[in-house]
Parts: sequence; structure tokens; C-alpha cells
Amino acid sequence: MIRVAAVGDVHMDVDLLGRYRPALEQLPERADALLLAGDLTRHGTPDEARCAAQEFGGLDVPVVAVLGNHDYHSDQEEAVADVLREAGIVVLEGDSVCLQTAGGRLGVAAVKGFGGGFAGRCASAFGEPEMKAFIGVTERSANTLEKCLQELDCEVRVALTHYAPVPETLQGEPLEIYPFLGSYLLGEAIDEGKADLALHGHAHMGSERGVTPGGVRVRNVAHPVIKQAYSVFNVERSGR
Ligand SMILES: [Fe+2]
Ligand SMILES: [Fe+2]
Repeated sequence: MIRVAAVGDVHMDVDLLGRYRPALEQLPERADALLLAGDLTRHGTPDEARCAAQEFGGLDVPVVAVLGNHDYHSDQEEAVADVLREAGIVVLEGDSVCLQTAGGRLGVAAVKGFGGGFAGRCASAFGEPEMKAFIGVTERSANTLEKCLQELDCEVRVALTHYAPVPETLQGEPLEIYPFLGSYLLGEAIDEGKADLALHGHAHMGSERGVTPGGVRVRNVAHPVIKQAYSVFNVERSGR
């Protein structure tokens, strides 16, 4: 059994310093790793990233993050990632990591993901170049996630995204914006990549629990949804 803690959408800036830290100090007793599901900042500035690094860096468990759309807003996502890495946080995009934990080898494959919508109500790569470009980003992201999951040689595989892979965890958000909150292509990638758990954020008004068509547990860990410093998920070793 591996215990995975996760939170997303912490949207750090100076005014929130100290909000999470007291609960994080007890994290090593409760979980083997902490996963951050994007939107660590409000506007994607290095100063805000330093606040996130101060709050989530230097813990006694490994911390793995993917960036969210807010972390891209100032076109300084590389600088944001560098600040987090300097604090010891593993920042992934189109990449994976295998962590040796007390509970076994934990693999995390991560992409930010993108929008497009869900089966029967989705955008497609048809018509204008802008539409093809939009869906192209999502397709490439999903394909990368699938490949990263399949390449992981770990006892437990977790898919970490910012955008949602299923519509269930969006319930509470206006239906009209579902296409901007996630894509079923991410869900297909999670199934094809045989993840044991999928974690995402982004949908602040969404719901906590969902499942992919293939039966993989999906959890929206956006802070406004879980309303605590982090949630902990027990993931069984699947013996691969
Ligand atoms: Fe957010
Ligand atoms: Fe977001």
C-alpha cells in the first residue's frame, strides 16, 4: 500500500504563506509522497512561485508537481518550474518519475492537459486552423500521458494532470464551460496507460469523485473542492 497525498489550485501568493504549512509538517506520518495538481500560483510569476516553494518545499516526503494554466499566465512557466525545483520539488510536464517510498515504488506520470470537452459534447480537429491547433494540444498531451504511464516500471502508477479527464469531477461547474475544464482524451490515456489512480485540479466548483470509462479512480484535489491542506489516497500495489 502506498499513501499518496495530493492538493491542487493552492494559488499561492504572500497573503497565503503559512496556510498549508502546519498541516504539511505532519505529512510524513500520513503519506509517502505529496502530489501538486497545478495552479500553484495566481498569475504565474516567479515571486508567487517562491511563495509556493516556501510553503511546499523542504518536506520530509518527495513532492511532485505539474503546472496549471495559471502558472502559464505570465509566459514564465520555465522560471516558475525552476523556482520550485530549487526548493526540491519535482516538476513534471510530459514526463514521469519513479519514487522509492516506504510503501513501494510509486510512479507518477504528469501532463498539464488541456480542454476540448467530453464524449458526445466535444470539440474536434475540424475546420479552422485555430480549432485544429486547440484540439492538437489536447491530443498531444493525452498521447504523451499514455506513453509516460506505459513506460513506468513501478508498483503503483498515478496520472497527475491539471485539467480533468472525466466529467463527473466537474459536477457543480456550469455545463457551458466543461470543454474548457478537461477532455475525455485524458481519460482514455489514463485507461490505456493502466493508471491505478488519476488526480487533477482546475475545477474549483467541481466534485471530488469520478471514474474513467475503464474503471480508474479519479479525484479532483482542487483545494476549494477538498477544503483541506491535502487529501490522502491509499493505492494498492498492483504487482506489475
Ligand atoms: Fe485553479
Ligand atoms: Fe486551473
